[in-house]
Amino acid sequence: MLKRSKSYTTNAKFMLHGGDYNPDQWLDRPDILIDDIELMKLSHSNTFSVGIFAWSALEPEEGKFTFEWLDEIFSNIHSIGGKVILATPSGARPAWMSQKYPEVLRVNGSRVKQLHGARHNHCFTSPVYREKTQIINRLLAERYGDHPALLMWHISNEYGGECHCDHCQNAFRGWLKEKYNHDLKSLNDAWWGPFWSHTFNDWSQIESPSPIGENAVHGLNLDWRRFVTDQTISFFENEIVPIKEITPDIPITTNFMADTFDLIPFQGLDYSKFAKHLDVISWDAYPAWHNDLESTADLAMKVGFINDLYRSLKQQPFLLMESTPSAVNWHEVNKAKRPGMHLLSSMQMLAHGSDSVLYFQWRKSRGSSEKFHGAVVDHDNSPENRVFKEVAKVGETLEKLSDVVGTNRTSDVGILYDWDSNWAINDAQGYGLKTKRYPQTLQQHYRTFWEQDIPVDVITKEQDFSSYKLLIVPMLYLMSEETIARLKDFVANGGRLVTTYISGIVNEHDLTYLGGWHKDLQEVFGIHPVETDTYYPNDKNYVTYKNQSYELKDYATVIDVHTATTEGVYVEDFYANTPAVTSHVYEQGKAYYIGGRLEDQFHRDFYRELIQELGLEPAFRVKHGKGVSVQVRQDQENDYIFIMNFTEEQQNVTLESSVTDLITGEELSGDLTLEKYEARIVVQR
Ligand code: GAL
Repeated sequence: MLKRSKSYTTNAKFMLHGGDYNPDQWLDRPDILIDDIELMKLSHSNTFSVGIFAWSALEPEEGKFTFEWLDEIFSNIHSIGGKVILATPSGARPAWMSQKYPEVLRVNGSRVKQLHGARHNHCFTSPVYREKTQIINRLLAERYGDHPALLMWHISNEYGGECHCDHCQNAFRGWLKEKYNHDLKSLNDAWWGPFWSHTFNDWSQIESPSPIGENAVHGLNLDWRRFVTDQTISFFENEIVPIKEITPDIPITTNFMADTFDLIPFQGLDYSKFAKHLDVISWDAYPAWHNDLESTADLAMKVGFINDLYRSLKQQPFLLMESTPSAVNWHEVNKAKRPGMHLLSSMQMLAHGSDSVLYFQWRKSRGSSEKFHGAVVDHDNSPENRVFKEVAKVGETLEKLSDVVGTNRTSDVGILYDWDSNWAINDAQGYGLKTKRYPQTLQQHYRTFWEQDIPVDVITKEQDFSSYKLLIVPMLYLMSEETIARLKDFVANGGRLVTTYISGIVNEHDLTYLGGWHKDLQEVFGIHPVETDTYYPNDKNYVTYKNQSYELKDYATVIDVHTATTEGVYVEDFYANTPAVTSHVYEQGKAYYIGGRLEDQFHRDFYRELIQELGLEPAFRVKHGKGVSVQVRQDQENDYIFIMNFTEEQQNVTLESSVTDLITGEELSGDLTLEKYEARIVVQR
């Protein structure tokens, strides 16, 4: 058995720079592969994710393996002191496999078996596909497990989607039997069976949700999504059996995703569960910089939010596995990153916890759908173009930031995001069908802290709450009894808890709580929300809070106050002058309820008081105007401070203590000017 002992943050203390490298597209061009070696050096790249979609190059015919080209790539990369993140190829498969074993093909919700083609379209349950992935993964681990260039495993690519084939239906029924202790009645109860005569009397009657079948049973929909996560993880676990056996010390990751415009978490899988199976979180970030709908700073805030979620999943540095050096090819408009934006956006990833800047892709494809996607090396094969130079500059910068590797962030503020609750609320036929916007609501609360450089962890419900002074739980529609109990404990022990409209409505089966709001929530908040009004897009109302008036859109909850203090009231409608914002001292802590969806200025003013009261501080204080963000990573001795100008104008900032510029070595204090899109990375020792 081959063994290595190395972790990307300990023995290999450098910022990873490079990305998806697909030499399998260039095997008939040895000249290009030779050029790559020089261009790798010139671009200051040191790490390459290899083999991601290379199955047909690795196994062109069933059982006939061709690793020689990959041996050469390993040697080329090693020859320049580079590292390999070795992928398993399961994200796309060779045609011979689909032809010979049609069971590997995915079946969609309408029960139509998909044809061979595209990618990310295999069945997660298929015994054949599981066996085939294990065979190739074993061979990869055996062949490269002790290669000194091997740094990490990249398992598959962007897991996602679902399969509804017979294998998956059976697996789903098995999963349900286990979940409901083989008791069909408890499943029928959880799914509110008698509604529309949806009571099952045999497990075999249960099928996955379908647009041409069952799609109105919310408990079923929710369980299906949970199953899809578990089945994807089970597929992943199957993939890594030989890898763990042969290379137990090589860290394992898989690349997560996020929505590109809203930067909201990927909705298809519960990453809070997946994270537990990974050594390193990595994700693919493609923000639409310079879009025409929002300011650069608004987009940067959202990038901050998603980074803080993915970092907080393991509370450790993560990897930026993919990004583009310039444009992508799949937005409606594929705009080039303006000069300076590539360095700035890369530094923002580091600022929130990434120990890498990796790209899709390293060399631009010549054909097929990604031939115009931004890449380090363009079709001109030249190191002289603007994009290549910007990449090289990022690489040079990263070489000066190796001290930042492995450092983390601490925070007194937690904002809670929950995949289950997001699925359930999106399924709810009620409220505004287009205005739920749960993750965007979290971003709205996050914004105030981002604007003031106060670090935030975006956490999930299983994580420990006790280290936070302030826990913000907006729109947590689905709350299990267990979550309610943990929130109650948090406040009882002195925490400040903020929640909002549409929280605590259903339990973990998506069944509403009976008898009004949960009695523990009533006790903690000192109120009883009794009715939630939903607004048309042109409707609005106002809330008066501390003598200011704030605009309200979308939702207003009518509140019966028991023992809470009314802090704000609605201005109009049949609930005019009734409580809209409340606070309540409960044991050692305090709980706040915000009844309506209020404008940003409300959050700024509301949280300003809490920030002062709790003594929440930026990790390093810089005086600056709008659109500048200051984020800090720390170890026991040093603060690494990222000062970033997300505006199109020069910005003057004032440092409140002296620091050293990590790139230029200059000592800095007092006033500092940041050019458009400039980032300064400084250290306070
Ligand atoms: C990612 C994917 C890459 C590439 C890239 C293009 O989602 O993992 O393989 O397609 O998008 O932006």
